[in-house]
Amino acid sequence: MRRVYFDNHATTPVLPEVFEAMRPYFSEHFGNASSIHHHGQETRAAVERSRESVAALLGCRTSEIVFTSGGTEGDNLALAGLAQAGDHVISSTIEHHAVLNSCKRLEAVGCKVTYVPVDGRGLVDPVDVRRALLPNTRLISIMMANNETGVLQQVEEIGKIAAEADVYFHTDAVQAAGKVPLDVKRIGCDLLSISGHKMHAPQGVGAIYVRKGTILQPMLYGGSHERSRRAGTENVPGIVALGKAAELAREALERGDVERTLAMRDQIERAIISGIDATGINGEGAPRVPNTTNIYFDHIEGEALVIALDLKGLAVSTGAACSSGAIEPSHVLTAIGLRPERARASIRFSLGKQNTPEEVQFALNLLPQTVARLRELSPVYNREAVSK
Ligand SMILES: Cc1ncc(COP(=O)(O)O)c(C=O)c1O
Repeated sequence: MRRVYFDNHATTPVLPEVFEAMRPYFSEHFGNASSIHHHGQETRAAVERSRESVAALLGCRTSEIVFTSGGTEGDNLALAGLAQAGDHVISSTIEHHAVLNSCKRLEAVGCKVTYVPVDGRGLVDPVDVRRALLPNTRLISIMMANNETGVLQQVEEIGKIAAEADVYFHTDAVQAAGKVPLDVKRIGCDLLSISGHKMHAPQGVGAIYVRKGTILQPMLYGGSHERSRRAGTENVPGIVALGKAAELAREALERGDVERTLAMRDQIERAIISGIDATGINGEGAPRVPNTTNIYFDHIEGEALVIALDLKGLAVSTGAACSSGAIEPSHVLTAIGLRPERARASIRFSLGKQNTPEEVQFALNLLPQTVARLRELSPVYNREAVSK
């Protein structure tokens, strides 16, 4: 059966070049990067080359990159590493659970957290961030690109506010990396987390930018790996893969490859909005990453549509992959003002480098009939009311 994968925000396939780059580091070059003999020196050099590549993608120094196990660890490290009891933290209502649950943990140990709201497009107003500042505010953590809607926040504005207030600024750029240019200096952030598997490297590797001079309380205690910021023997194959993926992402951004993704995303949106009634784009009107669209199909359960499409070979998602299985409507979609039924009727399409226009056509051929069939089965669907 033919399968088309439009769920690249959940995870991406490892690109062949990335796989080839990491392959020798499983058995041929297997040394521990901390060993002083030949085998260790070989892998140490590979880790440092990857650090250069990730630093080049983010526009920072190599010494400012800390390799992690992924986005969740980077987000946890940023929050737990900087804030402590008595501190105030500013975040937003639409963050990934890696940040939201880190905030909850901080609240449990005596921090105060302010969650700034978003407007109907999913945008945080930087003025709200400024207003939320308190004398004891230690950290602002606002994501760059939302994983459900793809909406891009005005991180540069927020960076300026943080700098003026002399407050640390962390941004979760897990869904932005490789999709839009990233420059930590322009953003003005002190910390920025990325994840390998969202940018065609494998699952279980990531990195966090830590601006020079930022002292983080480590989460893991052990050896002095990663300049004592993250103990534990380095995941060399994963780090090599992340380095290669970062290099390819930078080249693709420079070549303007995103235009191709954007054209496919726009085609999906146009075809659905004009061809299927009672649909709309969540986050419309806000700047968004080029690979993502989140669309509501009123009078349908999103989960039912995901399953029906999967049976026909198309993989999409109802929202955050990390919380799939949860029946609660998405916290992101309800935060932008969607009523629960509409939030539950929303589907995310997220494209990757491997997707083709022909796959878009495959998806667009499936969608109208699948939606129509589910609506016919839906007790709440009233065709006349919808088409008015
Ligand atoms: C915005 C965002 N932050 C953090 C994460 C967690 O990253 P990881 O899966 O690498 O732990 C995700 C994963 O979906 C994400 O979308």
